[in-house]
Amino acid sequence: MKRCDIGIIGLSVMGRSLALNMADHGFQVAGYNRSRTVTEQVVQQHPHDHLHPYYDLQEFVSALQRPRRIMLMIKAGAPVDGVIDQLIPLLEPGDIILDGGNSFFEDTRRRSARLAEQGLIYFGVGISGGEEGARRGPSIMPGGDPEAYAAIRPILEAVAATAEGAPCCTYIGPDGAGHYVKMVHNGIEYADMQLIAESYLLLKYVGGFSNTELADLFSSWNQGELKSFLIGITADIFRESDDLADGDLLDRIVDSAAQKGTGRWTSIESLKQGVEVSMITAAAGARVMSNDLALRRQAAGLLPAQTVSVSAEDRAALAEQVRQALYAAKIVAYAQGFALMRDASEQYQWSLDLGSIASIFRAGCIIQADFLNDITAAFRKDPALPNLMLNPFFRDQLAGHVRSLRTAASLGIANGLPLPAMTSAISYYDAFRAQHVGANLIQAQRDCFGAHTYERTDRPGHFHHEWRNHQ
Ligand code: 6PG
Repeated sequence: MKRCDIGIIGLSVMGRSLALNMADHGFQVAGYNRSRTVTEQVVQQHPHDHLHPYYDLQEFVSALQRPRRIMLMIKAGAPVDGVIDQLIPLLEPGDIILDGGNSFFEDTRRRSARLAEQGLIYFGVGISGGEEGARRGPSIMPGGDPEAYAAIRPILEAVAATAEGAPCCTYIGPDGAGHYVKMVHNGIEYADMQLIAESYLLLKYVGGFSNTELADLFSSWNQGELKSFLIGITADIFRESDDLADGDLLDRIVDSAAQKGTGRWTSIESLKQGVEVSMITAAAGARVMSNDLALRRQAAGLLPAQTVSVSAEDRAALAEQVRQALYAAKIVAYAQGFALMRDASEQYQWSLDLGSIASIFRAGCIIQADFLNDITAAFRKDPALPNLMLNPFFRDQLAGHVRSLRTAASLGIANGLPLPAMTSAISYYDAFRAQHVGANLIQAQRDCFGAHTYERTDRPGHFHHEWRNHQ
């Protein structure tokens, strides 16, 4: 047999799906999994002429043509270092390891540097799209040595989703850039999901919408400017009956959501970089608060809501208001995420091409949405655009929708509904365009209590004032 084009280590759902996707595209794929039974199951359940199982790591490595291309599809964290340790003695200079998991980008930077010392090449490859994406075409964000990219590009581009005929895969930048961009993708995903959850709360509790009505409403939204994967699956979720009891499945699901960490990482990195991504932080925080179920139940009996009880004039008007609010807030969330990537590009000298990044988010990934065409166009037209909200198209969109965001957020507050992402969106929008944010008073306070100095509007330099001297 001809040697294999690529090897995949880790054959659980994502690894197996990607391996089969590659095999479908004519590549010879070697598969290896730490536990032999997983590999056996894969070849039994999904036999494929181009997928070759290996049960010994040395034999797996020997089956690959050189330079070897080995993709890790394993749990992020220590397991990745463990497999790298096992692989290093088996590889030769020029061989390439690709990490297709949700690894933390600083780990990817460290691993790249370590492997470079051995003459090995390391790529951190963000892959989005879940099981279906991996099997039929994900969005792929490879980061690593630009010269070595040519050796992996044909395989990654072949298996990626396509948008308007172009593969949803582009070289992102050196060292940790691919995993960084995947991290921000997930941060935006958190904000998107939280905004949809808040829209659901408003429609259910202010408008009294049933699940069936919500399903129809979301389906209609999915025909317009909100068209996206997440709106589409949400419409389907509202329609799903419970298979274990009577009623709708959604109503039986515990009101508490987990997280694996990428949203939180995005928020932590934003604080380190000094870039505001309040909506992503709010969305990660909302999941944390959702986990305090027992305390929330206790507090509900102790803390009065004191609602102002503002009702919507009519349900159709409320639905339209929430739709517009969701769209406006979504623009703000993407503006924050892209501003964070712009800053990282400068800090890490990655030369990120935001237009290309937006273009590969158009299909395959979880945040795929029609309006990513407009984001792509915005950054292609002005690659130096400092914030998406300043692009003329998005300025117009916001001008038409911000009033609804304001009203929807106010309705939520008046009715005692927690809307952390929507309220962050309007606060960010207002802070971004505000002539006065009150920071003159903060400067004065800092100088007053700590002699930190202050700057003046009428002359340059830093000044200190002896505050309260006259007392
Ligand atoms: C994707 C998803 C994927 C995964 C998230 C879930 O792009 O395909 O983002 O990576 O579903 O990591 O993250 P949480 O468990 O943190 O919600």
